[in-house]
Amino acid sequence: MTWPGGKNGAGAYQRIINHMPPHRAYVEAFLGSGAVLRNKRPARINVAIDPSEEAHDLCQSIGGAPANTLWLHEDALTWLERRAAKGWMTAETLIYCDPPYPMQTRKGGPLYEFELTDGDHQRLLAWATATPAMVMISGYRCRLYDDGLTGWHRIDYQAQTRQGLVEECLWMNFTPPAQLHDYGHLGGDFRERERIKRKKDRWSRKIAAMDRLERLAIMEVLTTVVEGDTVAAHDQRDAQ
Ligand SMILES: C[S@@+](CC[C@H](N)C(=O)[O-])C[C@H]1O[C@@H](n2cnc3c(N)ncnc32)[C@H](O)[C@@H]1O
Repeated sequence: MTWPGGKNGAGAYQRIINHMPPHRAYVEAFLGSGAVLRNKRPARINVAIDPSEEAHDLCQSIGGAPANTLWLHEDALTWLERRAAKGWMTAETLIYCDPPYPMQTRKGGPLYEFELTDGDHQRLLAWATATPAMVMISGYRCRLYDDGLTGWHRIDYQAQTRQGLVEECLWMNFTPPAQLHDYGHLGGDFRERERIKRKKDRWSRKIAAMDRLERLAIMEVLTTVVEGDTVAAHDQRDAQ
């Protein structure tokens, strides 16, 4: 099961999910094998868009996508522009875009049945910089994106591809979130994710074995500490 540019590789979908703020509606605009959609905690409304039948077949045959997913076999740009015109997008909608990367950033030629022209990338950037929704975009750095997404938050990292290690980026129109939609993949690498998972299991067993009032006392401590964290994070953000 592989799809060119798929986010199934080591740590790839985890990194993206670990940057997702809480959201009610989720749109994966360039589905491919849908690695992120299949591995994240579902939103209330989930939309998967790709004009490629092969992409939809592959994604649905692997399984893991939320049951309440709207599968759209069409051009994401037109869909996003139409939704924008109807005012459908809100600040509680998260749209993840993993488009075919601009040709000038790629070593090889076309990879997909459906590719984007530079004009299409410009349409995507124009929509992304105007929408009130939260947007995340994966890609390689290039002039088009650097110029189109000025002021966006960007993280750079090494990703394993068929052509070897490459520097990939994730652009976001928000600062890294203080709260996540999904804590299931927390951790910067495999070892750290395993360590956190074991700790969560250990603590949930311990907490489950406690007397109810003792459990509530622990919850009060956690709430106080987390509220302190949130205030500190907001102060830090305001000071920037
Ligand atoms: C980089 S791949 C996505 C990989 C995906 N994140 C995964 O995990 O497998 C880009 C996808 O964009 C799709 N695509 C190309 N043009 C599109 C368009 N106009 N609208 C929506 N999807 C499109 C391609 O069919 C391809 O599946």
